[in-house]
Amino acid sequence: MPQLASRMGRAKPSAIMAVAEKAKALKAAGRDIISFSIGVPNFLPGDHVYAAARAALDKDSGQYGSNRGSDALLDAFLAHIEAVGLTGYTRANCSTGIGAKHVLFNLAEALLDEGDTIAYAVPYWTTYADIADISNAKRLELPCPASQNYKLTPAQLEAALATKPKIFLFNNPNNPTGMVYTREEVAALADVLVRYPDTWIVADDIYNRMVFDGLGYHNFLHTQPALRDRLVFVDSLSKTYGMPGWRVGFMVGPESVAKAVTTLNSNHITNIPEVVTAAAIAALTGPQDVPTMRNAEFQAKRDSVMAVMNSIPGVICPRPQGAFYVFPDISCAFGKSHGSMRIDNDVDFCNALLEAKGVACVPGSAFGEPRALRISYTCPSAQLPEGMRRFQEFFAELA
Ligand SMILES: Cc1ncc(COP(=O)(O)O)c(C=O)c1O
Repeated sequence: MPQLASRMGRAKPSAIMAVAEKAKALKAAGRDIISFSIGVPNFLPGDHVYAAARAALDKDSGQYGSNRGSDALLDAFLAHIEAVGLTGYTRANCSTGIGAKHVLFNLAEALLDEGDTIAYAVPYWTTYADIADISNAKRLELPCPASQNYKLTPAQLEAALATKPKIFLFNNPNNPTGMVYTREEVAALADVLVRYPDTWIVADDIYNRMVFDGLGYHNFLHTQPALRDRLVFVDSLSKTYGMPGWRVGFMVGPESVAKAVTTLNSNHITNIPEVVTAAAIAALTGPQDVPTMRNAEFQAKRDSVMAVMNSIPGVICPRPQGAFYVFPDISCAFGKSHGSMRIDNDVDFCNALLEAKGVACVPGSAFGEPRALRISYTCPSAQLPEGMRRFQEFFAELA
């Protein structure tokens, strides 16, 4: 019998989706479940987005489109990134994909040869490890535990770059930790990056509009414009505009990279559909109150989750300032039990929490940090206090 390709032995289904599916199944079986598992924004885009999609449907000829993305879409994206200080780019610097995830896979294909190394901080968004494994690249994982606020230090970066990885993949604001690097922290990392010209820099900064406490979003290019010829910025409509299923992602960077990603598009997907393109343009160019309003709501939710985390003895939880995640270190629970359920690790903890209290969280090991778990707090506002109450109660009942 013929065998699957060996790469499939390295490919795993998304760990986050697995928890979400389990929670969904329990809900379908009649359990009262509160899900903090999947990272969906839980709001819908504005009416103008749907109106643009409907209008496009009326005149969509159903023909193939541009492999790079339509001119109007690229122009809308270029105007959008000017607001975060990324200026001076043209359409030739851009390309698109079926979500940022697809753009990242394309970048891996475009930039990595088999056996090359890709470096990134831990905790990481689960897909980074999958990208490395499926591309048959080596992972250089840089541990950033809660004790260092889940942030990469210049010294760690320096040591990593000295080994000449092909790609340094950076994610700010961060999934799963919600941490946001300050201007000074970004500048210090950028100062290291300029000294290592053999490494591509991929800034997966899709949460760049979701920053709280007036901290602002900062990019390596803001202080080190010289990095421009090897930095690729990745963006997405999924979280900012409440459009995860529309599947629109972008990149901007050196022309050679944008061209390579466009070539891969021409082979893999051909184009983003016209109706989706119209919706994307409307989101980028229309009223920007959706992301702004949601930021205020997310910041308030972050505060209520943090109040609970800070009240539980032994839980260590650096305070997130962006995205919509909280990532507490719950290892103080290891070695204890909830009723008859023994908790030896993060997976045991999440299973027992789901079983006993109907609260779904993602084990930190999915993000390379088995001492923690991820809470995605975008659930309906009314559910959050009840979910947090159950979380607190669960901890109080551990023996
Ligand atoms: C850090 C990060 N990058 C990329 C993505 C993928 O986004 P998209 O929906 O555009 O594929 C996600 C989604 O959760 C993410 O958290």
